Amino acid sequence: MAADYPTMKTAEIRSAYLNFFESKGCKLYPSSSLVPDDPSLLLANAGMNQFKEFYQGKKVMKEIGACSCQKCVRTNDIDIIGADGRHASFFEMLGNFAFGGVTKEQACTWAYELITEVFKLPKDRLYFTVFTEDDETESVWRSLGVPADHITRLGEDDNFWAAGPTGPCGPCSEIYFDLGEEVGCGCPDCAPGCDCDRFLEFWNLVFTQYDGQEDGTLAPLPTKNIDTGMGLERMAAIMQGVQSNYETDVMRDLISVGERLSGKSYKENAESDLSLRIIADHSRSVTFMIADGILPSNEGRGYVLRRLLRRAVMHAHKLGIEGAFLSNYVDAIVRLMGHVYPEVVDNRELVERVILSEEERFGVTLRQGQAYLADALEKLEGTVLDGATAFTLHDTYGFPVEITEEICADANITVDKEGFEACMDQQRERARAATKDDAEAAWSTYGG
Ligand code: GLY
Repeated sequence: MAADYPTMKTAEIRSAYLNFFESKGCKLYPSSSLVPDDPSLLLANAGMNQFKEFYQGKKVMKEIGACSCQKCVRTNDIDIIGADGRHASFFEMLGNFAFGGVTKEQACTWAYELITEVFKLPKDRLYFTVFTEDDETESVWRSLGVPADHITRLGEDDNFWAAGPTGPCGPCSEIYFDLGEEVGCGCPDCAPGCDCDRFLEFWNLVFTQYDGQEDGTLAPLPTKNIDTGMGLERMAAIMQGVQSNYETDVMRDLISVGERLSGKSYKENAESDLSLRIIADHSRSVTFMIADGILPSNEGRGYVLRRLLRRAVMHAHKLGIEGAFLSNYVDAIVRLMGHVYPEVVDNRELVERVILSEEERFGVTLRQGQAYLADALEKLEGTVLDGATAFTLHDTYGFPVEITEEICADANITVDKEGFEACMDQQRERARAATKDDAEAAWSTYGG
């Protein structure tokens, strides 16, 4: 599909966005670390994370607002990453933020100006959603010239946004790009919110006015705020006239790394395309997580890292890539993104060392684990793999249980997660007892 508007590279979009908001008086902030300064969050998942205390009124910004390009990791839908062109575990989020000094009308006007005058997107392909009860935002979009049939009202599931279970949140309004009738389901009432691929959401404007409490209630915030998030890769797909984030300049370069290593060509085979996309995505999460000081482990963010890294290794094996390979992706990431994120340049050696050690550890047991699982599946009666087998795969062969689940799902088998968790609990109990014995032995040696 040739775009009927100017094309822009990812780096150009990033600069144009940030320059635009700086020109409006917003202060440019660098991305914060993927490790949030906030115990309620495992990993940075939105540009607003680093501004939480400004929303809560605990800190005051002297500028009218802020803007940033934030590195984010979201893993809630990890098993569909790569299966479509839109989901990713790692992405960059362009955002502008204000804490009382910018009205809803101003925020929408800036957004409209940026997309129609800077990015020059055709107005007839822009669609908007607003929260069911939000008459004000609908009338702002209408006053900017958006026709009524380009605005859809949606409920809480689509148009109420929060970074996590607690913290600043509020109703939102999303901006969509119409990729064309030919891409969609063809239903006469197809509109943003439809499950088909026709309307691509690329910018979310959140009107942050509540602070979600532990008990689920919403306390009003001291000011009415703005928090917007534009997925850079999605915007790049629009600006480059391609259907998928993986076909944009940066992601396509990472796919080429996999093509070179595997000898497979992208867009020739659905199964290898999936693996090429998964590794292109996961390599970015893994590189940036380690560059921010996260190490593979069996819990918390270290577990997320381990799971992504091992999933990438598994897919490399599927592609026939032998031995350690991820450092090739690190090279490309440093080349493509190091100018924006100096931490990947500064910590490159650490990243490569940690990745190599994890690749080697998992590489040793992967084949045996795969054979063990294949054997278990062959002998299986019924459609549920028992928890003890999943536990052995985890404990002896280093298979994160989610990877076992994914392999099983391909054969329409589920995993007994409760049984698996029971085995994990027993192991923790054994470890606790062993630690206690050691402590008592140490006490009798040194204290007795
Ligand atoms: N903080 C707005 C978003 O992530 O959509």
